[in-house]
Amino acid sequence: MATIQRVAIFGASGHFGVPITDALVTAGFDVTIITRAESSSTFPDGIPVIRTSYTIGKLTEALRGQDAAVCVVGIPGIPHHKAMIDAAEAAGVKRFILNEFDWGPDFQGLPEFNDISAGRAEGRNHAAALAEANHNFTYTGIAIGNPIDWALRAFPFMGFNIPERSAVIFDAGTEQFTATTLQGIGQAVVGVLRKPAETANRRVKVRSLKVCQNEILEAFEKATGNAWDVKRGSTKDLLVSGRRKKGEGDGSWVMDLVVAQLYEEGVGRSIVAASREESDADLLGVEEETVDGVVGKALKG
Ligand SMILES: NC(=O)c1ccc[n+]([C@@H]2O[C@H](COP(=O)([O-])OP(=O)(O)OC[C@H]3O[C@@H](n4cnc5c(N)ncnc54)[C@H](OP(=O)(O)O)[C@@H]3O)[C@@H](O)[C@H]2O)c1
Repeated sequence: MATIQRVAIFGASGHFGVPITDALVTAGFDVTIITRAESSSTFPDGIPVIRTSYTIGKLTEALRGQDAAVCVVGIPGIPHHKAMIDAAEAAGVKRFILNEFDWGPDFQGLPEFNDISAGRAEGRNHAAALAEANHNFTYTGIAIGNPIDWALRAFPFMGFNIPERSAVIFDAGTEQFTATTLQGIGQAVVGVLRKPAETANRRVKVRSLKVCQNEILEAFEKATGNAWDVKRGSTKDLLVSGRRKKGEGDGSWVMDLVVAQLYEEGVGRSIVAASREESDADLLGVEEETVDGVVGKALKG
């Protein structure tokens, strides 16, 4: 497969788009940002920006000459995913990185999230059908698990309130999950584009570490030099409250069930790859990180 050098990215100003764009530029790719005509996002100086409406025709024009496209738009952008894939294939783009960044093929998520999984599968199946018909077009999905350094900062509901130095430990706090840092997410995209043959037409599994809540708390206490105020929570209670809220149309059900899904004791749901060897981390050059290192990043913000 030919080398990939010119890379377009959708969603470059987003939570994951920023570190991915930075990693692509640092790795020496020629990056072009594609953004919505109506977007108010801002972008780093020195990177070409194409502002366009997201019709297949306009997107095909925008993508012409690119070797690869990375789609990392937020949930409101998912309805455009299929048009982006169609446009990439029509424009002669060799690799499309899907808007996944999820938990991968083995994830046993709660049924309440089936709609999100179905939306992702629709894009993936569409890309797979195009790749089957046109061997010059290929796709990759990247599974990252929990985006840990960002999530610890952004969502105190995950159990760690950094400014207040307080924590809620759910169940026994020993449920292990896999996670990838923002640096690891950026490197995963770079790794896929540097290894196009090995990553063609499949989902890759990425992890920076496997960890549990008790280990994160211990690392936070060590890093901050004081004991945190710790309360106990129950994932059973979260499952009940999340399902009740969903029934009542209260949008906060999502966080209840995301956290229950992450920490539910003895279920092992939230594992992208049980060991580093079972993941694609080595292939893609995603570093193994320590819990102390991750907590340090979360504290630095
Ligand atoms: N594994 C996990 O736990 C986890 C957590 C969070 C997110 N994710 C996944 O990661 C991906 C990126 O999420 P994110 O949080 O980085 O996204 P985000 O920050 O919410 O949004 C990224 C970009 O999406 C574009 N966008 C927003 N609304 C749009 C619309 N209506 N149409 C088209 N584009 C739109 C915007 O770019 P422009 O303004 O430039 O157009 C925006 O900057 C998603 O697939 C998400 O599901 C996974």
